[in-house]
Amino acid sequence: MTDRIDGNTLQGVSATTLWTLRNRAVEAKRPDGIIDDPLAVMLYDTIDYDYDKFGKPSQTHPLRALLADATTRDHLARHPGAAVVNLGEGLQTSFWRVGDPTVRWVSVDLEPVIDVRRRLLPADPQIIECPTSALDRSWFDAVPDDQPVLIIAEGLFMYFPPDDVWALLSDMAARFAGGGLVFDSIPHWFSKKTLAGLDLTKTYRTPPMPFALTVDEAAAIPKRVPRITDTADVMLPKGRGVWGNPLMRSSANWPLMRNIRPCVTVARFAD
Ligand SMILES: C[S@@+](CC[C@H](N)C(=O)[O-])C[C@H]1O[C@@H](n2cnc3c(N)ncnc32)[C@H](O)[C@@H]1O
Repeated sequence: MTDRIDGNTLQGVSATTLWTLRNRAVEAKRPDGIIDDPLAVMLYDTIDYDYDKFGKPSQTHPLRALLADATTRDHLARHPGAAVVNLGEGLQTSFWRVGDPTVRWVSVDLEPVIDVRRRLLPADPQIIECPTSALDRSWFDAVPDDQPVLIIAEGLFMYFPPDDVWALLSDMAARFAGGGLVFDSIPHWFSKKTLAGLDLTKTYRTPPMPFALTVDEAAAIPKRVPRITDTADVMLPKGRGVWGNPLMRSSANWPLMRNIRPCVTVARFAD
């Protein structure tokens, strides 16, 4: 029997991993759930926390996770045995959902989060843990880069100062030639709200999110970071109800909509 853990050991941005975990686990518990994630359910059931302060569960985070999983499987199909880096991995369980027997999986997050992962998730020789800031380039040296590397950054860059994100994009593209990156972004209006103090519920204020990116700005990344050769705006997979509604999905690319919605970008690094 696993010891229970107090989620309040995670503070600030690190506590936001309990928000995304909660949304994946609640979805995975549903009989009609869109994601199969028994380890997320185990984590959620083992970590004591006032999860209700995040408000109503949403499909956003499980859908984002499924999109990152699909990108990862696609990368590993093209580059068997490649390394996958999960930056700001939090309590993600993508390694087990993807279940690739050859992947080398590099898990980067701050020490308190890696500590919870060590205590609750199964140890695996394919996993390389880096308890460090994603902004500290020391994790670069932990990545086996004999094959093109895929970097995942889900729910991370928005919390960083913009200059730090641009410098990190440039350094990653220079170091991991031929690799790729999948990351999500929030629109500018939402970033501004968080900077002014956004109360998600009566008891939860989101941390400030200073980095925002529109779909058009994401498309222009190769002009700004020349070692990024191309980018693609990728839609979340279909979910239940409104998350699968064809009109909602097609309206995401209407001129008035495309630059005010969150987006997921897949970027390719030059060889
Ligand atoms: C919103 S959570 C996302 C977690 C996970 N990627 C997911 O999608 O469920 C943000 C994560 O970023 C991590 N984080 C914040 N600042 C970081 C930094 N400087 N370096 C690495 N991780 C960081 C937090 O600890 C937290 O786990």
